Amino acid sequence: MNDLAGKHIVLGLTGGIACYKAAELCRALIKEGASVQVVMTAAAEQFITPVTLQALSGRTVYSSQWDAREPSNMPHIKLSREADAILIAPCSADFMAKLLHGRADELLSLMCLARPIAQVALLLAPAMNREMWAHPATQRNVAQLMADGTTVFDVGSGDQACGETGDGRMLEPSELLEDVIAFFQPKSLLGQHVLVTAGPTYEAIDPVRGITNLSSGKMGFAIARAAREAGAEVTLVAGPVSLATPRGVARVDVISAQDMLQAVQDKAATATVFIATAAVADWRPAHAADHKIKKDGSGATPSLNFVENPDILATLAQSARGQSRALYCVGFAAESHDLLANAKAKRARKGVPLLVGNIGPATFGQDDNALLLIDESGAKELARASKLVLARKLIVEIAIRIKAGVRA
Ligand code: CTP
Repeated sequence: MNDLAGKHIVLGLTGGIACYKAAELCRALIKEGASVQVVMTAAAEQFITPVTLQALSGRTVYSSQWDAREPSNMPHIKLSREADAILIAPCSADFMAKLLHGRADELLSLMCLARPIAQVALLLAPAMNREMWAHPATQRNVAQLMADGTTVFDVGSGDQACGETGDGRMLEPSELLEDVIAFFQPKSLLGQHVLVTAGPTYEAIDPVRGITNLSSGKMGFAIARAAREAGAEVTLVAGPVSLATPRGVARVDVISAQDMLQAVQDKAATATVFIATAAVADWRPAHAADHKIKKDGSGATPSLNFVENPDILATLAQSARGQSRALYCVGFAAESHDLLANAKAKRARKGVPLLVGNIGPATFGQDDNALLLIDESGAKELARASKLVLARKLIVEIAIRIKAGVRA
Protein backbone atom coordinates (compact mmCIF):
# COMPACT_ATOMS: atom_id res chain seq x y z
CA MET A 1 0.00 0.00 0.00
CA ASN A 2 1.09 3.57 -0.60
CA ASP A 3 -1.44 5.35 1.55
CA LEU A 4 0.83 8.35 2.14
CA ALA A 5 2.13 8.75 -1.41
CA GLY A 6 2.78 12.42 -2.17
CA LYS A 7 2.56 13.48 1.48
CA HIS A 8 5.44 15.38 3.05
CA ILE A 9 5.65 15.07 6.81
CA VAL A 10 7.84 16.96 9.24
CA LEU A 11 8.53 14.46 12.00
CA GLY A 12 9.39 16.34 15.18
CA LEU A 13 11.05 14.57 18.09
CA THR A 14 11.02 15.99 21.60
CA GLY A 15 12.65 14.61 24.74
CA GLY A 16 11.39 11.22 25.86
CA ILE A 17 12.45 7.60 25.96
CA ALA A 18 9.87 6.93 23.20
CA CYS A 19 12.35 8.54 20.78
CA TYR A 20 13.50 5.00 20.05
CA LYS A 21 10.04 4.32 18.56
CA ALA A 22 10.33 7.41 16.36
CA ALA A 23 13.04 5.69 14.32
CA GLU A 24 10.63 2.87 13.45
CA LEU A 25 7.84 5.37 12.79
CA CYS A 26 10.06 7.32 10.40
CA ARG A 27 10.72 4.12 8.47
CA ALA A 28 7.05 3.17 8.44
CA LEU A 29 5.97 6.58 7.10
CA ILE A 30 8.50 6.33 4.28
CA LYS A 31 7.49 2.75 3.47
CA GLU A 32 3.92 4.02 3.07
CA GLY A 33 5.09 6.55 0.46
CA ALA A 34 5.62 9.74 2.49
CA SER A 35 8.72 11.90 2.42
CA VAL A 36 9.92 12.76 5.92
CA GLN A 37 11.94 15.70 7.22
CA VAL A 38 13.10 15.13 10.79
CA VAL A 39 13.43 18.02 13.24
CA MET A 40 14.75 17.32 16.75
CA THR A 41 14.89 19.32 19.95
CA ALA A 42 18.05 19.32 22.06
CA ALA A 43 16.28 17.09 24.59
CA ALA A 44 15.42 14.54 21.86
CA GLU A 45 19.11 14.34 20.97
CA GLN A 46 19.77 13.06 24.50
CA PHE A 47 17.75 9.95 23.60
CA ILE A 48 18.62 9.20 19.96
CA THR A 49 21.18 10.66 17.58
CA PRO A 50 20.39 12.61 14.43
CA VAL A 51 22.62 10.12 12.58
CA THR A 52 19.97 7.40 12.93
CA LEU A 53 17.14 9.64 11.78
CA GLN A 54 19.18 11.02 8.88
CA ALA A 55 19.97 7.51 7.68
CA LEU A 56 16.31 6.44 7.93
CA SER A 57 14.79 9.57 6.38
CA GLY A 58 17.47 10.16 3.75
CA ARG A 59 17.59 13.85 4.73
CA THR A 60 19.82 15.77 7.09
CA VAL A 61 18.13 16.47 10.39
CA TYR A 62 17.41 20.03 11.54
CA SER A 63 17.67 21.02 15.18
CA SER A 64 18.54 24.73 15.31
CA GLN A 65 16.67 27.84 14.27
CA TRP A 66 20.06 29.29 13.39
CA ASP A 67 20.80 26.54 10.85
CA ALA A 68 22.47 28.39 7.97
CA ARG A 69 21.77 25.67 5.37
CA GLU A 70 18.66 27.53 4.27
CA PRO A 71 19.67 30.43 1.98
CA SER A 72 17.21 32.67 3.82
CA ASN A 73 18.45 31.35 7.16
CA MET A 74 14.82 30.76 8.12
CA PRO A 75 14.38 26.99 8.36
CA HIS A 76 11.21 27.46 10.42
CA ILE A 77 9.52 29.10 7.42
CA LYS A 78 10.88 26.89 4.65
CA LEU A 79 10.37 23.54 6.39
CA SER A 80 6.87 24.32 7.67
CA ARG A 81 5.59 25.48 4.29
CA GLU A 82 6.63 22.34 2.42
CA ALA A 83 4.81 20.07 4.86
CA ASP A 84 1.34 18.51 4.67
CA ALA A 85 1.55 17.89 8.40
CA ILE A 86 3.89 18.30 11.35
CA LEU A 87 3.82 15.14 13.45
CA ILE A 88 5.43 15.44 16.89
CA ALA A 89 6.27 11.92 18.09
CA PRO A 90 7.14 11.69 20.88
CA CYS A 91 5.51 14.86 22.19
CA SER A 92 6.59 15.56 25.77
CA ALA A 93 4.42 17.23 28.43
CA ASP A 94 6.77 20.19 28.36
CA PHE A 95 6.48 20.57 24.60
CA MET A 96 2.67 20.55 24.78
CA ALA A 97 2.85 23.30 27.40
CA LYS A 98 5.07 25.30 25.06
CA LEU A 99 2.73 24.84 22.11
CA LEU A 100 -0.20 25.90 24.24
CA HIS A 101 1.43 29.22 25.02
CA GLY A 102 2.70 29.78 21.49
CA ARG A 103 6.28 29.82 22.68
CA ALA A 104 8.96 29.68 20.00
CA ASP A 105 12.42 29.58 21.55
CA GLU A 106 13.81 26.69 19.49
CA LEU A 107 13.29 25.43 15.95
CA LEU A 108 10.49 22.88 16.42
CA SER A 109 8.11 25.05 18.47
CA LEU A 110 8.98 28.02 16.28
CA MET A 111 8.02 25.99 13.22
CA CYS A 112 4.71 24.90 14.80
CA LEU A 113 3.84 28.52 15.51
CA ALA A 114 4.96 29.74 12.09
CA ARG A 115 3.12 27.07 10.07
CA PRO A 116 0.17 28.13 7.89
CA ILE A 117 -2.46 26.83 10.29
CA ALA A 118 -5.15 26.15 7.66
CA GLN A 119 -2.88 24.09 5.39
CA VAL A 120 -0.41 22.33 7.65
CA ALA A 121 -1.95 20.07 10.27
CA LEU A 122 -0.32 19.63 13.64
CA LEU A 123 -0.48 16.06 14.98
CA LEU A 124 0.79 15.14 18.43
CA ALA A 125 1.68 11.72 19.81
CA PRO A 126 2.02 12.33 23.56
CA ALA A 127 4.52 10.27 25.54
CA MET A 128 5.11 10.62 29.27
CA ASN A 129 4.87 9.08 32.72
CA ARG A 130 1.33 8.23 33.83
CA GLU A 131 1.27 10.86 36.60
CA MET A 132 2.41 13.52 34.14
CA TRP A 133 -0.29 12.45 31.67
CA ALA A 134 -3.05 12.38 34.31
CA HIS A 135 -2.02 15.74 35.80
CA PRO A 136 -4.76 18.37 35.44
CA ALA A 137 -2.25 20.74 33.82
CA THR A 138 -1.50 18.23 31.04
CA GLN A 139 -5.16 17.35 30.53
CA ARG A 140 -6.04 21.04 30.41
CA ASN A 141 -3.31 21.59 27.82
CA VAL A 142 -4.54 18.67 25.70
CA ALA A 143 -8.11 20.00 25.75
CA GLN A 144 -7.00 23.51 24.79
CA LEU A 145 -4.66 22.29 22.04
CA MET A 146 -7.54 20.29 20.56
CA ALA A 147 -9.81 23.32 20.79
CA ASP A 148 -7.10 25.22 18.88
CA GLY A 149 -7.36 22.68 16.04
CA THR A 150 -4.46 20.39 16.94
CA THR A 151 -4.96 16.65 16.55
CA VAL A 152 -3.85 14.86 19.71
CA PHE A 153 -3.56 11.10 19.27
CA ASP A 154 -4.36 8.71 22.10
CA VAL A 155 -1.71 7.42 24.45
CA GLY A 156 -1.00 3.76 25.01
CA SER A 157 -1.42 1.98 28.29
CA GLY A 158 0.83 -0.52 30.06
CA ASP A 159 4.36 -0.84 31.39
CA GLN A 160 6.34 2.39 31.32
CA ALA A 161 10.11 2.83 31.03
CA CYS A 162 10.11 4.36 34.54
CA GLY A 163 8.83 1.08 35.97
CA GLU A 164 5.28 2.29 36.60
CA THR A 165 2.18 1.01 34.83
CA GLY A 166 -0.63 3.11 33.37
CA ASP A 167 -1.63 5.53 30.62
CA GLY A 168 0.87 7.79 28.91
CA ARG A 169 3.23 5.73 26.80
CA MET A 170 3.47 6.63 23.14
CA LEU A 171 1.41 4.51 20.76
CA GLU A 172 3.33 1.91 18.81
CA PRO A 173 4.67 3.01 15.39
CA SER A 174 2.16 0.78 13.57
CA GLU A 175 -0.72 2.37 15.52
CA LEU A 176 0.52 5.88 14.84
CA LEU A 177 0.91 5.04 11.16
CA GLU A 178 -2.74 3.91 11.03
CA ASP A 179 -3.81 7.14 12.78
CA VAL A 180 -1.80 9.32 10.39
CA ILE A 181 -3.23 7.52 7.34
CA ALA A 182 -6.74 7.93 8.77
CA PHE A 183 -6.13 11.62 9.37
CA PHE A 184 -5.60 12.20 5.64
CA GLN A 185 -8.71 10.31 4.49
CA PRO A 186 -11.78 12.37 3.48
CA LYS A 187 -14.37 12.58 6.26
CA SER A 188 -17.42 11.51 4.27
CA LEU A 189 -19.22 9.78 7.17
CA LEU A 190 -18.80 12.33 9.96
CA GLY A 191 -21.66 12.05 12.45
CA GLN A 192 -22.71 8.56 11.29
CA HIS A 193 -22.69 5.43 13.44
CA VAL A 194 -21.77 2.45 11.30
CA LEU A 195 -22.50 -1.08 12.45
CA VAL A 196 -20.61 -3.83 10.57
CA THR A 197 -20.83 -7.62 10.78
CA ALA A 198 -17.81 -9.61 9.64
CA GLY A 199 -16.35 -13.09 9.43
CA PRO A 200 -18.04 -16.46 9.60
CA THR A 201 -20.29 -17.75 12.35
CA TYR A 202 -19.68 -21.06 14.13
CA GLU A 203 -22.58 -23.32 14.94
CA ALA A 204 -21.79 -25.90 17.59
CA ILE A 205 -22.54 -29.59 17.09
CA ASP A 206 -20.99 -30.57 20.43
CA PRO A 207 -18.41 -28.91 22.74
CA VAL A 208 -15.52 -29.65 20.36
CA ARG A 209 -17.09 -29.60 16.88
CA GLY A 210 -19.11 -27.24 14.80
CA ILE A 211 -20.06 -25.94 11.37
CA THR A 212 -18.45 -22.86 9.92
CA ASN A 213 -17.20 -21.53 6.57
CA LEU A 214 -14.11 -20.09 4.91
CA SER A 215 -14.86 -16.39 5.40
CA SER A 216 -11.72 -14.66 6.73
CA GLY A 217 -13.44 -11.45 7.84
CA LYS A 218 -10.90 -9.34 5.94
CA MET A 219 -13.47 -7.44 3.84
CA GLY A 220 -15.60 -6.56 6.87
CA PHE A 221 -12.59 -5.48 8.90
CA ALA A 222 -11.39 -3.32 5.98
CA ILE A 223 -14.86 -1.73 5.78
CA ALA A 224 -14.86 -1.03 9.53
CA ARG A 225 -11.45 0.61 9.18
CA ALA A 226 -12.51 2.65 6.15
CA ALA A 227 -15.69 3.83 7.89
CA ARG A 228 -13.66 4.91 10.90
CA GLU A 229 -11.17 6.71 8.66
CA ALA A 230 -14.15 8.51 7.10
CA GLY A 231 -15.04 9.91 10.51
CA ALA A 232 -17.84 7.55 11.60
CA GLU A 233 -18.27 5.95 14.98
CA VAL A 234 -17.90 2.25 14.18
CA THR A 235 -19.03 -0.94 15.91
CA LEU A 236 -17.75 -4.19 14.46
CA VAL A 237 -19.53 -7.41 15.36
CA ALA A 238 -17.09 -10.17 14.44
CA GLY A 239 -17.46 -13.92 14.20
CA PRO A 240 -14.49 -16.13 15.11
CA VAL A 241 -11.52 -14.65 13.19
CA SER A 242 -7.98 -13.84 14.21
CA LEU A 243 -7.67 -10.31 12.82
CA ALA A 244 -6.46 -7.21 14.63
CA THR A 245 -9.18 -4.67 15.48
CA PRO A 246 -8.86 -1.53 13.33
CA ARG A 247 -7.87 1.56 15.34
CA GLY A 248 -10.72 3.39 16.96
CA VAL A 249 -13.28 0.67 16.20
CA ALA A 250 -15.41 -0.86 18.98
CA ARG A 251 -15.44 -4.64 18.55
CA VAL A 252 -17.87 -7.23 19.84
CA ASP A 253 -16.80 -10.85 19.36
CA VAL A 254 -19.49 -13.45 18.80
CA ILE A 255 -19.56 -17.12 17.87
CA SER A 256 -22.95 -18.15 16.48
CA ALA A 257 -25.53 -16.49 14.22
CA GLN A 258 -27.88 -16.11 17.18
CA ASP A 259 -25.14 -14.34 19.19
CA MET A 260 -24.47 -12.12 16.19
CA LEU A 261 -28.14 -11.14 15.87
CA GLN A 262 -28.30 -10.36 19.59
CA ALA A 263 -25.11 -8.22 19.47
CA VAL A 264 -26.34 -6.36 16.40
CA GLN A 265 -29.75 -5.70 17.93
CA ASP A 266 -28.05 -4.40 21.10
CA LYS A 267 -26.16 -1.83 19.04
CA ALA A 268 -28.75 -1.06 16.37
CA ALA A 269 -30.67 1.65 18.23
CA THR A 270 -27.98 4.28 17.65
CA ALA A 271 -26.72 3.00 14.28
CA THR A 272 -27.39 4.99 11.10
CA VAL A 273 -25.68 2.58 8.68
CA PHE A 274 -25.63 -1.22 8.80
CA ILE A 275 -23.19 -3.13 6.59
CA ALA A 276 -23.62 -6.90 6.70
CA THR A 277 -20.49 -8.57 5.38
CA ALA A 278 -20.62 -11.62 7.66
CA ALA A 279 -20.94 -15.02 6.08
CA VAL A 280 -23.63 -16.13 8.49
CA ALA A 281 -24.27 -19.87 8.63
CA ASP A 282 -27.69 -20.45 7.09
CA TRP A 283 -28.45 -23.39 9.36
CA ARG A 284 -27.41 -24.62 12.79
CA PRO A 285 -27.76 -28.04 14.41
CA ALA A 286 -31.15 -28.15 16.12
CA HIS A 287 -29.53 -29.35 19.35
CA ALA A 288 -25.88 -28.98 20.31
CA ALA A 289 -24.85 -32.03 22.36
CA ASP A 290 -23.72 -31.26 25.93
CA HIS A 291 -20.89 -33.77 25.68
CA LYS A 292 -18.59 -34.77 22.87
CA ILE A 293 -20.35 -37.21 20.55
CA LYS A 294 -18.32 -40.45 20.72
CA LYS A 295 -17.95 -43.26 18.22
CA ASP A 296 -19.61 -46.36 19.65
CA GLY A 297 -17.52 -48.79 17.60
CA SER A 298 -20.46 -49.98 15.52
CA GLY A 299 -19.64 -47.77 12.52
CA ALA A 300 -22.95 -45.89 12.99
CA THR A 301 -22.79 -42.18 12.09
CA PRO A 302 -24.62 -39.52 14.06
CA SER A 303 -27.57 -37.90 12.35
CA LEU A 304 -27.91 -34.15 12.63
CA ASN A 305 -31.08 -32.13 12.34
CA PHE A 306 -30.79 -28.50 11.31
CA VAL A 307 -32.88 -25.41 11.88
CA GLU A 308 -32.60 -22.18 9.90
CA ASN A 309 -30.70 -19.29 11.46
CA PRO A 310 -32.26 -15.83 11.71
CA ASP A 311 -31.51 -13.56 8.75
CA ILE A 312 -29.71 -10.72 10.53
CA LEU A 313 -29.70 -8.30 7.61
CA ALA A 314 -33.33 -8.80 6.66
CA THR A 315 -34.39 -8.59 10.33
CA LEU A 316 -32.62 -5.28 10.85
CA ALA A 317 -33.77 -3.74 7.58
CA GLN A 318 -37.35 -4.75 8.32
CA SER A 319 -37.39 -3.46 11.89
CA ALA A 320 -35.85 -0.12 10.83
CA ARG A 321 -38.57 0.24 8.18
CA GLY A 322 -41.21 -0.73 10.72
CA GLN A 323 -40.03 1.99 13.10
CA SER A 324 -39.48 4.50 10.23
CA ARG A 325 -35.93 4.76 11.50
CA ALA A 326 -33.18 6.03 9.19
CA LEU A 327 -30.87 3.03 8.91
CA TYR A 328 -29.06 2.65 5.59
CA CYS A 329 -28.63 -1.10 5.11
CA VAL A 330 -26.00 -2.67 2.87
CA GLY A 331 -25.93 -6.39 2.13
CA PHE A 332 -23.20 -8.54 0.65
CA ALA A 333 -23.72 -11.49 -1.62
CA ALA A 334 -21.09 -14.18 -1.90
CA GLU A 335 -22.01 -16.08 -5.05
CA SER A 336 -20.31 -18.79 -7.02
CA HIS A 337 -21.95 -17.94 -10.40
CA ASP A 338 -24.43 -15.56 -12.14
CA LEU A 339 -23.36 -12.73 -9.87
CA LEU A 340 -25.53 -9.99 -11.37
CA ALA A 341 -28.78 -11.95 -11.45
CA ASN A 342 -28.27 -13.50 -8.01
CA ALA A 343 -27.24 -10.20 -6.43
CA LYS A 344 -30.25 -8.38 -7.91
CA ALA A 345 -32.61 -11.02 -6.60
CA LYS A 346 -30.94 -10.96 -3.19
CA ARG A 347 -31.27 -7.17 -2.95
CA ALA A 348 -35.01 -7.46 -3.46
CA ARG A 349 -35.34 -10.41 -1.11
CA LYS A 350 -33.41 -8.74 1.70
CA GLY A 351 -35.22 -5.42 1.20
CA VAL A 352 -32.05 -3.29 1.22
CA PRO A 353 -31.15 -0.25 -0.92
CA LEU A 354 -27.61 -1.45 -1.73
CA LEU A 355 -26.33 -4.97 -2.31
CA VAL A 356 -22.65 -5.66 -2.93
CA GLY A 357 -21.89 -8.79 -4.91
CA ASN A 358 -18.66 -10.72 -5.04
CA ILE A 359 -17.58 -14.17 -6.13
CA GLY A 360 -17.14 -16.10 -2.88
CA PRO A 361 -14.46 -18.65 -3.79
CA ALA A 362 -12.38 -15.90 -5.46
CA THR A 363 -12.36 -13.66 -2.41
CA PHE A 364 -12.50 -15.77 0.78
CA GLY A 365 -9.16 -15.36 2.56
CA GLN A 366 -7.65 -13.21 -0.21
CA ASP A 367 -6.26 -9.70 0.27
CA ASP A 368 -7.92 -8.36 -2.85
CA ASN A 369 -11.39 -8.56 -4.34
CA ALA A 370 -13.71 -7.07 -6.98
CA LEU A 371 -17.18 -5.76 -6.15
CA LEU A 372 -20.43 -5.26 -8.01
CA LEU A 373 -22.74 -2.63 -6.49
CA ILE A 374 -26.45 -3.09 -7.13
CA ASP A 375 -28.94 -0.38 -6.22
CA GLU A 376 -32.26 0.87 -7.58
CA SER A 377 -30.55 2.55 -10.52
CA GLY A 378 -28.58 -0.49 -11.70
CA ALA A 379 -25.13 -2.02 -11.33
CA LYS A 380 -21.69 -0.49 -10.90
CA GLU A 381 -18.40 -2.37 -10.80
CA LEU A 382 -15.53 -1.59 -8.47
CA ALA A 383 -12.55 -3.19 -10.23
CA ARG A 384 -10.19 -5.63 -8.53
CA ALA A 385 -8.06 -3.96 -5.88
CA SER A 386 -6.98 -4.54 -2.30
CA LYS A 387 -9.84 -4.98 0.15
CA LEU A 388 -8.92 -1.74 1.92
CA VAL A 389 -8.95 0.27 -1.31
CA LEU A 390 -12.32 -1.25 -2.23
CA ALA A 391 -13.64 -0.63 1.28
CA ARG A 392 -12.76 3.07 1.02
CA LYS A 393 -14.48 3.30 -2.37
CA LEU A 394 -17.54 1.55 -1.03
CA ILE A 395 -17.71 3.95 1.92
CA VAL A 396 -17.66 6.89 -0.53
CA GLU A 397 -20.49 5.25 -2.52
CA ILE A 398 -22.51 4.76 0.66
CA ALA A 399 -21.89 8.35 1.79
CA ILE A 400 -23.12 9.66 -1.60
CA ARG A 401 -26.33 7.63 -1.32
CA ILE A 402 -26.96 8.71 2.28
CA LYS A 403 -26.47 12.35 1.30
CA ALA A 404 -28.96 11.87 -1.51
CA GLY A 405 -31.46 10.75 1.13
CA VAL A 406 -31.78 7.08 0.24
CA ARG A 407 -32.85 5.02 3.23
CA ALA A 408 -33.72 1.43 3.96
N1 CTP B 1 -27.00 -12.52 6.07
C1 CTP B 1 -27.44 -12.28 7.35
N2 CTP B 1 -27.97 -13.31 8.10
C2 CTP B 1 -28.08 -14.54 7.57
C3 CTP B 1 -27.63 -14.79 6.26
C4 CTP B 1 -27.11 -13.76 5.53
O1 CTP B 1 -27.34 -11.15 7.83
N3 CTP B 1 -28.60 -15.52 8.31
C5 CTP B 1 -26.48 -11.40 5.26
C6 CTP B 1 -25.04 -11.52 4.91
O2 CTP B 1 -24.21 -10.89 5.88
C7 CTP B 1 -24.99 -10.81 3.58
C8 CTP B 1 -26.30 -11.13 2.96
O3 CTP B 1 -27.16 -11.42 4.04
O4 CTP B 1 -24.94 -9.41 3.73
C9 CTP B 1 -26.30 -12.25 1.96
O5 CTP B 1 -25.81 -13.42 2.51
P1 CTP B 1 -25.64 -14.76 1.62
O6 CTP B 1 -25.22 -15.84 2.55
O7 CTP B 1 -24.80 -14.51 0.45
O8 CTP B 1 -27.09 -15.00 1.11
P2 CTP B 1 -28.23 -15.87 1.63
O9 CTP B 1 -29.28 -14.99 2.17
O10 CTP B 1 -27.70 -16.92 2.57
O11 CTP B 1 -28.77 -16.54 0.33
P3 CTP B 1 -28.25 -17.85 -0.49
O12 CTP B 1 -27.88 -18.86 0.55
O13 CTP B 1 -29.41 -18.15 -1.30
O14 CTP B 1 -27.08 -17.41 -1.31
